[in-house]
Amino acid sequence: MSVIERTASPEAMLDKDTLSYLGPAEAKKSEGEFVPKIVAFCCNWCSYAGADSAGNARASYPADVKIIRVPCSGRVNPLFILRAFEKGADGVILCGCHPGDCHYTTGNYYTRRRMALLISMLDYMGVDKGRVEVDWVSASEGARFAEIMNHFADKIKTLGRNVRLEDIRCRN
Ligand code: FES
Repeated sequence: MSVIERTASPEAMLDKDTLSYLGPAEAKKSEGEFVPKIVAFCCNWCSYAGADSAGNARASYPADVKIIRVPCSGRVNPLFILRAFEKGADGVILCGCHPGDCHYTTGNYYTRRRMALLISMLDYMGVDKGRVEVDWVSASEGARFAEIMNHFADKIKTLGRNVRLEDIRCRN
């Protein structure tokens, strides 16, 4: 797991260097293995704390998951997801507090609607909708966080590399 601290806006964190920094993944890649680049947007109050709990409980999940901490899942503009694909991500997962538990009361309700709309449009753009997932993880659900990330990483490995929205100018 690699975590990017919230020192800049999510937009700024999606820069090329951020996505290309995948230490263990790079080693596997040099052995010829497909290593998906996965971006996980996690809200500060539940999911990010859930990732912490997973770490504390030593629950393992792929090192290929790049966490971007956001104040609330509602902060994630659907364009961030498309931007991540453009920057070379193979899968993007958005995690927030369980419905009814959002620190800002209704942020995740907006997320749910926006993401449903985005996912329905992915088909139109020719991107497999399986490459985007939305899930809810509370601060105490470290094991569940690891399980979701493992499952998502396996799914993306099966789907293979995403080339549909990739902007070749963003390659290293
Ligand atoms: S603070 Fe977690 S989804 Fe809003």
